[in-house]
Order: sequence, then structure tokens, then C-alpha cells
Amino acid sequence: MILIKLGGSVITDKSEYRKFQREQVARLCREIADSGRNVMVVHGAGSYGHVIAKRYSLSRGLVDFSQIPAVAQVQYDVRELSSLVVREFLGAGIPSVSVPPGSCFVMEDGRLVAEDTEAIRALAHIGVMPILFGDVVMDRRKGFGICSGDQLMELMSDMFRPERIVFVSDIDGLYSADPKTDAGAEFYPEVDRGILESVSSGSTVDDVTGGVVNKMEAMLRMCSEDRDCVLVNGTVPGRLLSLLRGEDVPCTRARL
Ligand code: IPE
Repeated sequence: MILIKLGGSVITDKSEYRKFQREQVARLCREIADSGRNVMVVHGAGSYGHVIAKRYSLSRGLVDFSQIPAVAQVQYDVRELSSLVVREFLGAGIPSVSVPPGSCFVMEDGRLVAEDTEAIRALAHIGVMPILFGDVVMDRRKGFGICSGDQLMELMSDMFRPERIVFVSDIDGLYSADPKTDAGAEFYPEVDRGILESVSSGSTVDDVTGGVVNKMEAMLRMCSEDRDCVLVNGTVPGRLLSLLRGEDVPCTRARL
């Protein structure tokens, strides 16, 4: 089985609140279906989650009650996004259902506590793909918090032991600096702890690279001797399909 995260940057337009990239998602769903591979999917929130979550500091937990309507709004928005994603999977012939983490799990100081995963396992068992996504999740200490798609990838990886993990994003992989602003940025086809440390301590690191560094850290935690973990650019048509078929494509691979 291959575990895939469709990042918020490929399924939404991150610069505009609640802008779904329908055609791109439809294409990615077709690529997944055409690969014929057995997959599980998690997705990010993009502009359905981050815009309001940031405005109301939802990742800090409950600070004041003006945040409460925002908690409900983000939960509403990411559920709607997830339904849009599921619609495209159904259209591509992959039976799937959206499973909202905020409705079935809790967190403990930001750490995901998934005590009951029976429904998720049962869905997968009969061939309906359970799709989890970044959500606002109640937190035993902080009231609530943000559960990212990357945390859910770690949960799904522990549960289903995929042979391969793929993060689909809007960049080719890890660079030493932001390639959009720095022409001398070096591309890393493979990354290990040493490379990641040098990138994250570099003075040229900005927000964009910082986000990738966190993702690479999660990837390094998830990869193993027999589990490949890669970051690939899903905005390039056909690239995910080629990767799923085992072909060589530009991507960054996490290495122990
Ligand atoms: C964020 O999830 C969840 C919310 C803001 C509610 P992710 O962190 O996985 O989303 P992306 O992929 O970065 O957009």
C-alpha cells in the first residue's frame, strides 16, 4: 500500500480563502486511479484552514472566547473541502469517504490521541478509502488545537504500514534556499538528518523552506529500511502517476 498526502498547496489556492483547485485535484485523482496501486490518502487544509486558523491563533489553543466561532468555521470549511476532494475520488472510480479527525480523535498538548480507529480499519477492510484531513481537534490540555495532515500521516503509517509514503506538494523537493527568490538554491534529491540540519540552520531559510523542513523531519521519522518516503511536485501533470508506477522523477527522498 502507498500512503499519499495531498498537500493544501496542491488542492487549494493558498493565497485565496476557500479556493478549491478542482481541475488539479481531478487530475491527481485520475493519476492515482490510473496507477492501479492500492493507496490511502490524507489531505491538508490549504486556504480552507490556514487563513482563519492564523487570524484567530487557533494553534495556541483556547485563549479567549472570540476564537470559538472560528473553531466552528474552520471545522465547517475543512469538512466542505474534504467533501470536494472525495467527490473527485468518486468520479475517478475510487470509493472513498471523508473521516473528520476533529469528530473522532482528541489531542493531548498537541499530540494526537487516536484511541478508537475501528471504523477507519473497517472501511479500509471493505475497500472504502477513509480520507483523513488537517482539522481543528479538541485538546485535553489546551481546549483545542490544529491537527495537521502530517500528524495524520504518521498515524496512518503506524496503522497500515505502507511500503511507500508520498507527500504531494507544489515544489519539486528540498532546496538549500527558496528557489523562487534565490537562483543559486541547490536541489537535494535525497535528504538525511545531516543535510536537513544544515538547511534549517542556514541563514537563507525563510517561511517557505521552513515549512518544507518540518515536513522533511516528519518524513525522516516515517522512513525506514523498507519504507521509502518521498516529496513530489503534484502541479506537474503526470509526475505523481510516473512516481506511483516506479519511474524516476524529480523528487526528494528521505534517507536514514
Ligand atoms: C492544517 O493541516 C489544518 C488546519 C489549518 C485546520 P495541514 O498543515 O496538513 O495543511 P496544509 O497541507 O499545510 O495546507
